[in-house]
Amino acid sequence: MFWQKKLSGFMKKEHGKMQSMLDKLDYTNKDFEIFSKLKKILENHIYAEEKAIHLLHKRGKMFPALSKVIEEHNDIEISLYELVGPNIKTKEIKLKKIQALAELLRNHLENEDKNFYPYLDSNLNSEEREEIFEILEKNLD
Ligand SMILES: [Fe+2]
Ligand SMILES: [Fe+2]
Repeated sequence: MFWQKKLSGFMKKEHGKMQSMLDKLDYTNKDFEIFSKLKKILENHIYAEEKAIHLLHKRGKMFPALSKVIEEHNDIEISLYELVGPNIKTKEIKLKKIQALAELLRNHLENEDKNFYPYLDSNLNSEEREEIFEILEKNLD
């Protein structure tokens, strides 16, 4: 059967879960707790998307919107790594880094919602979209 679901709609909902956590950040100690929950969801989310991207590569699908998403994932992963690294000496520094990560993530979610997933919806055929959907759904929380 022709697969009609949109990847962009499905992922927008997933992104909304992280967006609502970002909206709760208020630069107080509460942020540490929000961050530890967000970190798990985010790592899982990137893992799922990278698996989907790997499939696109295997199918020979290469386009600028894809490279941009890979770059943004790398930046987010570096930022996550820094947050658990030895340079975090004070709570102040950690809070600042959480805010910086939040900014990266907000921009990334916006890029995926406005550009990346709509691009996939209009440039992949229904079989390809379904394959990507299955990978994402299986690997997301
Ligand atoms: Fe992503
Ligand atoms: Fe995403």
